Amino acid sequence: MTKQSAKTSSANYRKTSGGKRMAQDAGSAFVPVEPFEIVVFGGTGDLARRKLIPSLYHRFCDGQISKKSRIIGASRSKLTRDEYLAKIKEAYQSFNPEVTLSDTKWNAFCELLDYVAIDVTSSKDWSELGKKLDASKKLIRVFYLAMPPALFANICQGLKAAGLAHKQSRVVLEKPLGHDFKSADEINEAVGQVFSEKRIYRIDHFLGKETVQNLLVLRFGNVLLEPLWNRDSIEHIEITVAESIGAGGRGSYYDKSGALRDMVQNHLLQLLCLTMMEAPGSTAADDLRLEKIKVLRALAPITAENVEEATVRGQYVKGKVDGEMAPDYLTDVELEESDAETYVAIHAKVDNWRWQGVPIYIRTGKRMRTRRSEIIIQFKPVPHSIFGEGTPVNPNKLVIRLQPDEAVNLWMEIKEPGAGGLRLKTLPLNLSYADNFTVRYPDAYERLLMDVVRGNLSLFMRRDEVEAAWTWCDGILNAWEEVGQAVSYYPAGSDGPTGAERMLAQQGDEWSDVK
Ligand code: BG6
Repeated sequence: MTKQSAKTSSANYRKTSGGKRMAQDAGSAFVPVEPFEIVVFGGTGDLARRKLIPSLYHRFCDGQISKKSRIIGASRSKLTRDEYLAKIKEAYQSFNPEVTLSDTKWNAFCELLDYVAIDVTSSKDWSELGKKLDASKKLIRVFYLAMPPALFANICQGLKAAGLAHKQSRVVLEKPLGHDFKSADEINEAVGQVFSEKRIYRIDHFLGKETVQNLLVLRFGNVLLEPLWNRDSIEHIEITVAESIGAGGRGSYYDKSGALRDMVQNHLLQLLCLTMMEAPGSTAADDLRLEKIKVLRALAPITAENVEEATVRGQYVKGKVDGEMAPDYLTDVELEESDAETYVAIHAKVDNWRWQGVPIYIRTGKRMRTRRSEIIIQFKPVPHSIFGEGTPVNPNKLVIRLQPDEAVNLWMEIKEPGAGGLRLKTLPLNLSYADNFTVRYPDAYERLLMDVVRGNLSLFMRRDEVEAAWTWCDGILNAWEEVGQAVSYYPAGSDGPTGAERMLAQQGDEWSDVK
């Protein structure tokens, strides 16, 4: 880097009316992607209506998607194109009540849209889909499988038999990718018979979140943190993804899954990898993924011998969330009984030189007190306090808040001003997104969908990465079964079962407050 480029370029900043310098809306210049066609299997499903179609609409509005592109919803329902358009418009409006839909833009977007009714378990309807696709085969072709993974093999075989998966085509696999290593392996095998690894995009939408991508920049775009980022300076690490919503509405999926499969196997382990991996050579897909896999493989196995001290399973019962009474899990998912965990806390360890002896506490739960995702790096105390016993010195803490109120706070000790003795105060150096940026944060799917079209695999998981994550989680699942570890109950609106506090207390630690 030249000295010149190391200086802050004033061109990148603007002054607000209050005179405060704010980063210019760097995201406002969108580079259009090449024309493409995307078939969304599960086109009438929740994900398509809530996330995928709205994301494509937003990219279209920003001029990133050309009018030559096509978006084809595919599902079993016998709908006409007009009925499909009406359905997704209604969904857009109900999921985005704050947006006033521009008729002109929405109608222009609808020009790209089409619908095909297809039963993916039969061999019949594939030619109908074929008729909707670009016969010249010039467009980039994307198949998005937003359907239960049990159908992935059928879809891939159907595409192959109908000759629809051409050289330019790629497939996006939505989670859950199996329910254990074996089933994930079977899915990967079946998909791999039709698409080569470089054309398979295994999605984890957390990787598309702005603040999750910022982890890479924070760690590898600053020289300050790296010398401290290890067992010598870090006491422990906490990763929390707390949700205030319950599991209602998706009971049939959720009850078979539970929090470990639904959240830890993918989202939390990805956060853990990005926090703990070595610096990759570049952001190229395989450089990044290789470093993540090394972390997954270094995770100390949790077995029947230590599962009870290293994990806590919980399930919510009724309680108040945001002042409103929320029902218990069984009522939410309309079941008489269930042992599914809606909360899990784990004391994990990464067995390598950098992290030896550093506890990593991860937890996630539904119907928690509030929605909050954060990564906390708890530094060690100063080796010796020069201020005397009556003046406590709090250790530094780095809080990376992923959502909501995205921010990075480095809590430091400073002298409280004033006469009458020396008093220390712990205050944050605050890098708040809201204070510094005025851009709209794109939904994670917006970024990821455009990356699929661009052919950028960096934010998608490689087969061995998914399988390494399953190997570790299978160990926990098997151990739970072996020792018969039941769920502990926690009231909705709380911080989870008290056992999770005891688990940390045994190590002399405590969870940071999730407020
Ligand atoms: C999904 C899980 O992958 O992620 C859900 O299946 C969870 O259970 C969701 O609620 C959380 O994602 P976000 O983006 O809302 O934080």
